[in-house]
Amino acid sequence: MSLISWSITAFDIWVIDDLQDTFSLKSPKKSPLVLRMIVLMFAMVCGVYICSICLKQIGTRTTNEFLNVEEPQRPCPEPNIEPWEIPYVHYPKPKTYSRDECACNPVRYFAILSMQRSGSGWFETLLNNHTNISSNGEIFSVKVRRSNISSIVETLDTIYNLDWLSSASKNECTAAVGLKWMLNQGLLQHHEEIVEYFRTRGVSAIFLFRRNLLRRMISVLANSYDRDAKLLNGTHKSHVHSPHEAEILARYKPLINATLLIRDLKQVEETQTKALEYFKSTRHIILYYEDILKNSSKLADVQEFLKVPKREVKSRQVKIHKGPLSNYVDNWDDLQKALNGTQYQSFLIGDYRK
Ligand SMILES: *[C@@H]1O[C@H](CO)[C@@H](O)[C@H](O)[C@H]1NC(C)=O
Ligand SMILES: *[C@@H]1O[C@H](CO)[C@@H](O)[C@H](O)[C@H]1NC(C)=O
Ligand SMILES: *[C@@H]1O[C@H](CO)[C@@H](O)[C@H](O)[C@H]1NC(C)=O
Ligand SMILES: *[C@@H]1O[C@H](CO)[C@@H](O)[C@H](O)[C@H]1NC(C)=O
Ligand SMILES: *[C@@H]1O[C@H](CO)[C@@H](O)[C@H](O)[C@H]1NC(C)=O
Ligand SMILES: *[C@@H]1O[C@H](CO)[C@@H](O)[C@H](O)[C@H]1NC(C)=O
Ligand SMILES: *[C@@H]1O[C@H](CO)[C@@H](O)[C@H](O)[C@H]1NC(C)=O
Repeated sequence: MSLISWSITAFDIWVIDDLQDTFSLKSPKKSPLVLRMIVLMFAMVCGVYICSICLKQIGTRTTNEFLNVEEPQRPCPEPNIEPWEIPYVHYPKPKTYSRDECACNPVRYFAILSMQRSGSGWFETLLNNHTNISSNGEIFSVKVRRSNISSIVETLDTIYNLDWLSSASKNECTAAVGLKWMLNQGLLQHHEEIVEYFRTRGVSAIFLFRRNLLRRMISVLANSYDRDAKLLNGTHKSHVHSPHEAEILARYKPLINATLLIRDLKQVEETQTKALEYFKSTRHIILYYEDILKNSSKLADVQEFLKVPKREVKSRQVKIHKGPLSNYVDNWDDLQKALNGTQYQSFLIGDYRK
């Protein structure tokens, strides 16, 4: 605007000057008049040029405002991706902050689908070590969040809109956002609606299972035994333990009922198979804890799956249960006998020390 007024002023001065000269009729020489005409022409051309630029800018601004009203979620240039990827690429606009310089970086949505004691905690710390990945933890361990499908959808919407603020949040420069979700946390119960959500919102699933389900099971049992033993010790300190009980507490190893163990192993296998069947139509990858431990390319596979820049990722969290299984069970001989000759026999020898 100041440019316009300046140009008009300059133009006016020249015109007035010229008129004065014309009316004075006392121009002594011709050459200054020609010179003035040239300068006047130059000023006019400049004025018209500046005006046209200003008008163009005003015009562009109006068009932008118009577009913003019409189509608010398409301000970013098209990313250079394969057509099949388009449904999986998002540009969330968080309510609580601005994505600033990363506003036009595409974001992928994921969910780690796993079972307790399958190394998903460790796996998640590995993912969160990547500057562009935010995995927000076991969000649905809190019961109210999974009490019905509307609560689940509301929670997922908040996470995927980058409005879930946790220690894992990378905020504006997140390129992949997700959570850790156990199969028994409403996932299988509401599988139809959740599969539909994943399909329509473009969420990719990362299945994380453990190959050695016996190790997993013993880990679960040892973990709850651990808790129970501590609880028993704490609350009944003044009570006299039976010699047997005291002995178990001292050695800190659970006795495992082999009959129940085989039943539970079968159940876990069935649960995993069911989950894979339910979610087979979603985009997914299947990972095993043991493979990630042994084979570093598995982490590169995950980064490729999430389309984040390849990085080396580290975790300071210790891996679950190292060493021979017999260290963790009181009646190892009974277990060996019970599993010998069954489909689970191989679980007895698997030892994934690293
Ligand atoms: C990843 O881990 C390394 C080593 O523990 C640490 O120095 C780095 O800050 C971590 N990066 C992120 C983004 O957490
Ligand atoms: C779903 O659960 C939430 C939290 O428990 C509750 O506030 C809400 O009323 C429930 N909605 C329906 C439709 O049941
Ligand atoms: C990853 O994060 C960094 C900042 O930590 C950012 O500069 C970069 O653009 C992000 N990459 C992607 C693909 O979003
Ligand atoms: C039980 O308590 C005693 C002493 O209060 C302690 O030495 C022992 O380690 C505890 N055992 C467990 C299993 O916590
Ligand atoms: C194992 O559990 C089964 C079923 O609950 C029970 O019948 C059996 O007596 C238990 N065995 C032992 C050794 O505790
Ligand atoms: C390690 O993982 C990569 C990628 O998934 C796979 O191609 C390769 O065969 C694996 N190596 C071993 C020794 O299993
Ligand atoms: C397992 O069964 C085989 C025969 O089927 C036997 O030779 C072996 O000693 C058994 N192992 C254990 C640990 O019971």
